Amino acid sequence: MNIMIVKNYKELSKTGADFIIKQLKHKPQSVLGLATGSSPLGMYQELIKAYQAHKVTFSQSRVFNLDEYIGIDYAQKESYHYYMLENLYQYIDIPKNRIHIPEIKDSYSEATKKFDKLLDLHPIDLQILGLGTNGHIGFNEPGTPFSSTTFITKLNWQTRKDNARFFNSINDVPTHAITMGIRNIMKAKRIVLIVYGANKKDALYNMIHGEITPDIPASILQLHSDLTIVADDAAAQSIK
Ligand code: F6R
Repeated sequence: MNIMIVKNYKELSKTGADFIIKQLKHKPQSVLGLATGSSPLGMYQELIKAYQAHKVTFSQSRVFNLDEYIGIDYAQKESYHYYMLENLYQYIDIPKNRIHIPEIKDSYSEATKKFDKLLDLHPIDLQILGLGTNGHIGFNEPGTPFSSTTFITKLNWQTRKDNARFFNSINDVPTHAITMGIRNIMKAKRIVLIVYGANKKDALYNMIHGEITPDIPASILQLHSDLTIVADDAAAQSIK
């Protein structure tokens, strides 16, 4: 595993964006796996700037998102469909039919099967991940088997508490979500984990130095053959 420690959010964002830009230069048809939340927000702004400056094109690429809440409308600003459109997709030249965000249309089992099938057809070249304070990746909460593929997950209390900042109150945070599983994530050829802020320092320490256990879902990343962790100083204070 490769660990990069950067000064601040700006550098974190630029470093994350550089990985994507280089990947697309090397292989314009790359399949990208993307995350939502606070950590990659600045990275998306950097990507938009790079696209506007003609430094990158997404025209031949394909994107998969990790997860989506269940029980909220996708037009609602708290949904991850809305987040991705608002913070990246509407500003870049990614073809609409190559954007894949897990979503429930009919049944849960149809939705999970469909997403797994798409992932099998289009293996991810570069997966961007964030890290939950409880060690989750995607919405694979502590206790999720490492063999999981796309599934419906119950969000744990810590995750709902952490994400309450995006909602009016914790009661409005959905209790369930659809998420790519750990096995799907581990299949990505390359993984870049973006970790920002002092509140992630314990999760980061456990992810790197702890036992590989479903109790800390991100600990499985220790076994990935091409993992880069990009962390800011505050998050990295426990691993220096
Ligand atoms: C979001 C996702 C989550 C977040 C994690 C960190 O699509 O899959 O695993 O990456 O909860 O979120 P932030 O960056 O908001 O701290």
